[in-house]
Amino acid sequence: MRVRLKGDFLCTLFLFIALCTLFYNLMRPTTKISPVKPKRVKIAPKTAKPRKFLETHEKPSSARLLSEAYNAEEDHEENNPTGSPVVTPPPFDFKQYLRSKDQRNFTLLINQPNKCKKPPGDSFLLIAVKSIVEEFDRRESVRKTWGREGVINGARVRRVFLLGTPRNTSAVSMWESLLQQESHYYKDILLWDFLDTFFNLTLKEIHFLSWAEQFCSNVKFVFKGDADVFVNVENLISYSQTQDPTTDLFVGDIINHAKPIRSKKSKYYIPETMYGLGMYPAYAGGGGFLMSGVTMKKLSKSCREVELFPIDDVFLGMCLQRVNITPVLHEGFKTFGITKPSAAPHMQTFNPCFYRDLMVVHSLKASEIWLMWNLLHSQQPPCSQRQRIKKLFHWKKKKAKQDIKAVTNQKMSTTVSDTGS
Ligand SMILES: *[C@@H]1O[C@H](CO)[C@@H](O)[C@H](O)[C@H]1NC(C)=O
Ligand SMILES: *[C@@H]1O[C@H](CO)[C@@H](O)[C@H](O)[C@H]1NC(C)=O
Ligand SMILES: *[C@@H]1O[C@H](CO)[C@@H](O)[C@H](O)[C@H]1NC(C)=O
Repeated sequence: MRVRLKGDFLCTLFLFIALCTLFYNLMRPTTKISPVKPKRVKIAPKTAKPRKFLETHEKPSSARLLSEAYNAEEDHEENNPTGSPVVTPPPFDFKQYLRSKDQRNFTLLINQPNKCKKPPGDSFLLIAVKSIVEEFDRRESVRKTWGREGVINGARVRRVFLLGTPRNTSAVSMWESLLQQESHYYKDILLWDFLDTFFNLTLKEIHFLSWAEQFCSNVKFVFKGDADVFVNVENLISYSQTQDPTTDLFVGDIINHAKPIRSKKSKYYIPETMYGLGMYPAYAGGGGFLMSGVTMKKLSKSCREVELFPIDDVFLGMCLQRVNITPVLHEGFKTFGITKPSAAPHMQTFNPCFYRDLMVVHSLKASEIWLMWNLLHSQQPPCSQRQRIKKLFHWKKKKAKQDIKAVTNQKMSTTVSDTGS
């Protein structure tokens, strides 16, 4: 309860600061940015419709988040055959990408150089969350839920958000000063000077790894994830505590033997000139992965030597391959939202007993993350005895799988929604 009150207070304070900034800027006659009506304070325009596509394993899943805006535009285009005022993104220009591939050093516009120094002490877990400028609300819910900083079960947790510059600055007016304020207040924003597009996520990957190597070199473990996942941080930490941070570790929802998509219609189309082999190296999909500090440093170096590849998950797989690190599949990272959209539609949300035994669950709304976290952390977990998973989490792949299956079977008989369609 106290946490929640504090959260509400912080939220109010933040909005207040944002409002003040807005009005202050409106008052200045010399402002460069075109004036906006005060009602535009609502910063996160939710234009994205439910996504139509859900591909199988071949779809690198972290692609989804940042491509939402992209999809929204595509939908827009379809619904707007006259097509006049809607600017549609041009098809991905591979030639241009290949030409500018060597341009891979971008300036860090907002840094948090003391992230791993203050408060002093060991950094056990660094949580890095991919976000886009527009998503103030998502960052808020992550901050207040699974992304909390502090000491959890004896482990110091620190958090950063990874951002590029917004593609459409008119959609988020005042974004620079808002972001400055946000950074000043929470000290968790990293902003680089490249356009935050789906195909630039690889740049985000490289820049984050370099940053972590430089400013957080002593961290024991790093979790990197999307902003639309729910992470059971307690599970993540207790798992990490059984691992040795000085040896290689890379765990997640690992995808093996994925083939490059050669159909030009696909968003993930990769021509053979860009990737000639028939199969991608093993890579982590599904919204997040955990690695040791040592692996983070190795990857930072190896990624600098790997040619840019427009799908960031696969790119990281290439970096792993280069230093001979085998990514490890962990059932706790299995994420129904992506890999089995219709197998367990009823499992998607609002069953905290289900989330309790997982590490990372994908594709949740900000409100769902918030609700789930509160349900999990309330005094009386609402899992009834029948629903309750008998055994506690045991980090054994088979066990976890059985548990999930058990829950699935139990719930099969009850609700079956049509979310999968
Ligand atoms: C990028 O920066 C690194 C280190 O600062 C440097 O070694 C490298 O040559 C730069 N690469 C390019 C393409 O500018
Ligand atoms: C940018 O956002 C504004 C406001 O949401 C919208 O009117 C405009 O069409 C967008 N432009 C592009 C290129 O998407
Ligand atoms: C990536 O960012 C750079 C720098 O902002 C930009 O010039 C480039 O067009 C972006 N690339 C893609 C594929 O969006």
